[in-house]
Amino acid sequence: MAVKALRSWVRAVDARDAAALLRLHRELWFDHDGRGGMPASTDEQVWLGYGEILERQLAHRDGRRVPNGSFEGKLGHLVGEWDGRVVGQVEIYLDRFGWDPRTPHVAELRSLIVTRDSRGVGLGASLVREAAAASRLRAGSSTIVAAEVLARNEALAFYDRLGFRTLERLTAIAGARAPSGYKVAPAAVEDAGELSVLDHEARLRRQRWGDPRFDPAPTSIGGDLVRMIADGLALDEAQRSTEPGRVREELLARDARGRALAAGYLVASPLGPPFAPVMRAEIARLAADPDDPRALEAAHALVAHAWHRVSALGARELLVRTPFLDPVGASMAELESSRPFSWILAAPASTILRRATKP
Ligand SMILES: CC(C)(COP(=O)(O)OP(=O)(O)OC[C@H]1O[C@@H](n2cnc3c(N)ncnc32)[C@H](O)[C@@H]1OP(=O)(O)O)[C@@H](O)C(=O)NCCC(=O)NCCS
Repeated sequence: MAVKALRSWVRAVDARDAAALLRLHRELWFDHDGRGGMPASTDEQVWLGYGEILERQLAHRDGRRVPNGSFEGKLGHLVGEWDGRVVGQVEIYLDRFGWDPRTPHVAELRSLIVTRDSRGVGLGASLVREAAAASRLRAGSSTIVAAEVLARNEALAFYDRLGFRTLERLTAIAGARAPSGYKVAPAAVEDAGELSVLDHEARLRRQRWGDPRFDPAPTSIGGDLVRMIADGLALDEAQRSTEPGRVREELLARDARGRALAAGYLVASPLGPPFAPVMRAEIARLAADPDDPRALEAAHALVAHAWHRVSALGARELLVRTPFLDPVGASMAELESSRPFSWILAAPASTILRRATKP
């Protein structure tokens, strides 16, 4: 064991790692493509260009961060060495979803990989542990580490060993029939009041289901929340015509009497390198009362509307993100044309650091 510990090492990335990182990214994205993730580009020119982007990014970051520091601003990047060779990497994106002092920072792990012939000796766990330690140092002791794992990836068991649990599910839908009797349309600024009610109830449910990443929901809906939502709607409205081929809009589903029963935030844009240039479309938030059968139907009407909208733009699937315990999300996962896409997992950094797996 001691020999293994000496042979492997995790450190901050630096500009000399660009070629190794390109190899690792290539292995990762083809692996994920094979597991039903986003399609990797098969065009060599795209990969050449991507290599140049990586090189530039690393040189730029090297020039800005403290020597050997893992973070430059919100971005962290670590590599794992085995016998002096770079064989693994992980990127970290630090964020905070709110402004309440009690709300923790979230360190999102991205592109974690250990190359095939170096797996099983503890390097993956070391990369995650170092990412947790560096993020905690940077953002505070309550930091939470999060990761997205494809549904068809045995790495789920790896995260389980490190203390992660599931917070959200992404379901991929490739076709949807709208229940009749509902009208779905983009929300306008005048809808901010109704949207605030749906949003507030969704926050309370998310809190009840134990997602620690967000601000505690206020006890009542104040003018601040309504104003914030109205501002967001106005911004989306203003951006609508400036971003052709991209979608960013709040959808509202109303019943025949005009009651707003479900809201969903739809985002869609073409993937950039190193992926194939397909449209990635997602309902990033879906708010509907799972105990109200009509709200559940309205949520399905909303998803069907979104699906028609993005499939017309060339999307092959629409991802729907919901809290793991949300029955609305579970009902999406039961649709004939759907498949489980991925899970969002999270663990407090302190839990990860307490879990000792291999050295
Ligand atoms: C997931 C991955 C990073 C794990 O790296 P690794 O270096 O092999 O993992 P470790 O050796 O540190 O394993 C840590 C623990 O997780 C377990 N584990 C690792 N991979 C596992 C797998 N595929 N299935 C089940 N358990 C696994 C190990 O058995 C070990 O448990 P132990 O401490 O009880 O022995 C690596 O398999 C990989 O790069 N996969 C392809 C890319 C990928 O899926 N990345 C994750 C993106 S979300």
